[in-house]
Amino acid sequence: MEATPDCASKPCRIFEFLESSIGKKIMVAAAGVLLCGFLVAHLLGNLLMFVGGETFNRYAEALVSNPLLPLAEAGLVGLFLIHIVLSVRATLANRAARPEGYQVYTGKGARTPGSRTMALTGTLILVFVIIHVATLKYQLGGPKGVDLFAHVLGWFANPWYSIFYVLAVGGVGLHLSHGVQSAIQTFGFNHPRYTPLIRKAGLAFAFLIFAGFASLPVYFGFIHEPALACCPTEGGSK
Ligand code: HEM
Repeated sequence: MEATPDCASKPCRIFEFLESSIGKKIMVAAAGVLLCGFLVAHLLGNLLMFVGGETFNRYAEALVSNPLLPLAEAGLVGLFLIHIVLSVRATLANRAARPEGYQVYTGKGARTPGSRTMALTGTLILVFVIIHVATLKYQLGGPKGVDLFAHVLGWFANPWYSIFYVLAVGGVGLHLSHGVQSAIQTFGFNHPRYTPLIRKAGLAFAFLIFAGFASLPVYFGFIHEPALACCPTEGGSK
């Protein structure tokens, strides 16, 4: 992107880049890719619940006692904000530039369930993350005086909470089914042979993220012995 002649300073050029439509798209895509990195790490950590309560609690305690955690959390909030604010602004700018009723994607099969519902699934994910962080990280509601594993199990014992989780991570999967391939396009990767393969890999990634996260509320909410979720534990939360 060429800087305008009256925009010679670095901050001005950064601002100009962020105001351009391609600048916004690149930032949204880059933040999205980094958020996917968080999702993979978070999923791998959460899957330790299948190994057992003690293992999961030890992992969570190691995370909490890491002095770099506040920095990582601030980075995570920053990524969410960049992704949300710039994608909303890009969508509004697109709509404003588009004549009434005009469809951007006219090519056969260009629109997918994922691309059509990006705003909806994005909103669902935002609502989910707020409820999720409030209930599991800050432990509003749910069982008190128990370790983190028992606290999560206590919440999953509520079928509405577990059903909401499955729907929300379904929204995450649908969002990623379009988001991953859109990010690849934004970064300018286009190859007649590899692009279709990368698209399929993106769909597989979205599905694995959905299935991995959904397995937790499904198993601990509906299959695992619910009585284990009720009681304070003394190292016996397996
Ligand atoms: C469905 C299965 C999930 C489970 C069982 C789960 C579990 C947890 C737990 C126990 C915490 C608190 C960790 C702690 O305080 O040490 C947490 C935090 C968090 N989770 Fe999840 N999570 C799930 C899915 C997700 C998804 C799909 C997202 C994003 C879309 C997400 C985003 C977050 C965020 C942003 C935090 C706060 C991280 C921090 O500030 O340290 N989680 N999760």
